[in-house]
Amino acid sequence: MIPESTIDQALKALFGTIGFQAQPAGLYDPLRYMIAIGGKRLRPKLCLLAYGIFADEIIPGALEAAAALEVYHSFTLIHDDIMDRSSLRRGHETVWKKWDEDTAILSGDVMCIDAFKRIAKVPAAVLPQALDLFSRTAAEVCDGQQLDMEFESRSRVSMAEYMQMIGLKTSVLLACSARMGALVAGADEAAQQAMYQYGYNLGLAFQVADDYLDAYGDEKVFGKPIGGDILNAKKSWLTIKAGELGASGIAEALTAPARTEAEKSAKIARVKALYESVDVADAARAEIRRLSDTAINAIASLPEAGKEALQGFAQRLIGRSF
Ligand code: IPE
Ligand code: IPE
Ligand code: MG
Ligand code: MG
Ligand code: MG
Repeated sequence: MIPESTIDQALKALFGTIGFQAQPAGLYDPLRYMIAIGGKRLRPKLCLLAYGIFADEIIPGALEAAAALEVYHSFTLIHDDIMDRSSLRRGHETVWKKWDEDTAILSGDVMCIDAFKRIAKVPAAVLPQALDLFSRTAAEVCDGQQLDMEFESRSRVSMAEYMQMIGLKTSVLLACSARMGALVAGADEAAQQAMYQYGYNLGLAFQVADDYLDAYGDEKVFGKPIGGDILNAKKSWLTIKAGELGASGIAEALTAPARTEAEKSAKIARVKALYESVDVADAARAEIRRLSDTAINAIASLPEAGKEALQGFAQRLIGRSF
């Protein structure tokens, strides 16, 4: 078992020194920018925490896998921000806003490839499984992003369809992060599966929390514009639950025009008033706790010290605020 303080130091060093090709700077500067502006770095942390449960020292291949997960995640955010017309990320201008859309597309593409180059550096004994896991996950994230976009223009989306969509766009990468760490450390199949289930359910809790914070967060802490999901007519956990709870007019409120600043604030206020009419925020907090508990239950058979580390991770990620 590797102490969490050792993992934190390794992560700091990893992202302090991570390098991308120098030229053409117009292509690689956005990659350097996305890593430099930070983010919570949850996926590499989860990967190394999982790794550290089954190993006693950090090998270069484990760090490459951790880096790959953050690089891949950051690439998805560059493209997601074009798709969601979002102007703020990690408290800074998004890549497509700071440069332009063409730059965000191509820098995103090369960032995705960079992630695969890093995954290819895991120990040879686990490379086939690592590549299979990573490429399957990467494709599933695209499946989820496509569903997310398609749902925007659909009048009705069920909670089951929503959970499937967030399972793909968000959970599989957290699940992959946890399983990847265990795989690189040589853990057995049952332990790898437990790690995957933990990451998957934590990912569901995390995306419901992200939807909640999109409406109720503090922009300075959240690092993203508040109300963006409402303006994009996203089928979020909040809109779907509000519909289930009988808030009538939610579909109409979501499709109202939002061209001017005044129309935008009126639309956000109208949708949030509908949320409040059925106490959807309370329901969201309860669901986030339930999903987080499901994640913890998935690792019941792991060694005690490992369980504690993962409980702590879930607690810090979700527990304190919800
Ligand atoms: C944002 O992920 C995208 C979602 C899956 C909600 P994070 O909230 O982990 O973003 P960063 O990496 O900390 O910026
Ligand atoms: C994030 O969904 C999923 C991916 C980036 C793959 P969101 O669109 O909700 O993420 P944020 O809120 O922009 O970070
Ligand atoms: Mg999105
Ligand atoms: Mg988005
Ligand atoms: Mg969001």
